[in-house]
Amino acid sequence: MSEKKADFIDFNRPVIVGKEMQYIADAVATGKISGDGVYTKKVHALLEHQLDVPRALLTTSCTHALEMSAILLDIQPGDEVIIPDFTFVSTVNAFVLRGAKPVFIDVRPDTLNLDETRLEDLITPKTKAIVPVHYAGVGCEMDTIMEIARRHNVAVVEDNAHGLFAKYREKNLGSFGAMATQSFHETKNFSSGEGGALLINEPRYIERAEIIREKGTNRSRFFRGQVDKYTWVDIGSSYLPSDILAAYLYGQLEQREKIQSHRQHLWERYNSDLKDWAYAHEVQMPFVPAHAEQAYHMFYMLLPTLELRQGLIAHLRERNIQAVFHYLPLNLSDMGRSFGGQPGGCPVTERISDQLVRLPFHNVLSDSDQDRVIESILEFDF
Ligand SMILES: Cc1ncc(COP(=O)(O)O)c(C=O)c1O
Repeated sequence: MSEKKADFIDFNRPVIVGKEMQYIADAVATGKISGDGVYTKKVHALLEHQLDVPRALLTTSCTHALEMSAILLDIQPGDEVIIPDFTFVSTVNAFVLRGAKPVFIDVRPDTLNLDETRLEDLITPKTKAIVPVHYAGVGCEMDTIMEIARRHNVAVVEDNAHGLFAKYREKNLGSFGAMATQSFHETKNFSSGEGGALLINEPRYIERAEIIREKGTNRSRFFRGQVDKYTWVDIGSSYLPSDILAAYLYGQLEQREKIQSHRQHLWERYNSDLKDWAYAHEVQMPFVPAHAEQAYHMFYMLLPTLELRQGLIAHLRERNIQAVFHYLPLNLSDMGRSFGGQPGGCPVTERISDQLVRLPFHNVLSDSDQDRVIESILEFDF
């Protein structure tokens, strides 16, 4: 493995921000480090209280929370699920695993969120779910999306992997849909390395969610003393994380104000220091509508062309700075094409996917390192 230079600025860096290690030791001392221990319960309570949702269940990843949502909605072969073309594969794969046909919806050119004005045209009698992704932790237009979903009797699952603690019109992201999913992957604001959560807003799904998460057994009811033995009652898998991971995560979540205020500080510095350069070079900066309180999950920019985007990444790499891009259009992937995707299907996604660059953004990025990133970008002239 090649050594990183001492002055290398990582795109992301996992860090201890509070009492994570103390809580892990404490979890071990309780004598129970499998799932649903003391720290898992603490995280559940924290999420339920902070987000005002009826039930939060920690999962081994956001991917697994999405898989649970597809099982809970009883997705069957041939059902259609509307998914933004610009998202991570898990958003779609979780539903395809159950046999669903993905219907890709293009994104808005300003927020890069699902374009709600295109939604109604894509709904058919086979549509079972809509999965808005709150890209970069900026809320989708939930009023419109929920109204259309209600009118057509279609479930909404919010993929809120990026948006923990963000709000849309003063209501928490993750509290709109029948359910929502969170990610605690190492690149997220709060992390347990790998991890996720399913938030359940419609109480009728809660009991079955507990069963699916516990290998299809009613073990949760057994632990609560509601049945005298537990048994196999439904399909399911092992979707619950070790309490060691929950302990680490609890240490991170306890520091949420510190983490979020540092990320806000970084986001605002990038935004203010790069805006004149961006304007002069026709680079699009992130757009946050006035009614959205964002999660400060990432800082991205859209360069005018693919060549310039690749050029900027190479320019930063030469200066020991790691910048990245993400999300190739799903409809043009091998799997997307097998469902009928073709060029021109989602033109905004196809364009912005070539243009987007994400700058270093993490919980211990210092002002001096950020200054170096900013100065290096300002030197990138074209
Ligand atoms: C929008 C979105 N959904 C889902 C996921 C999957 O999250 P996880 O890695 O926790 O499974 C990601 C991963 O980054 C994501 O960006």
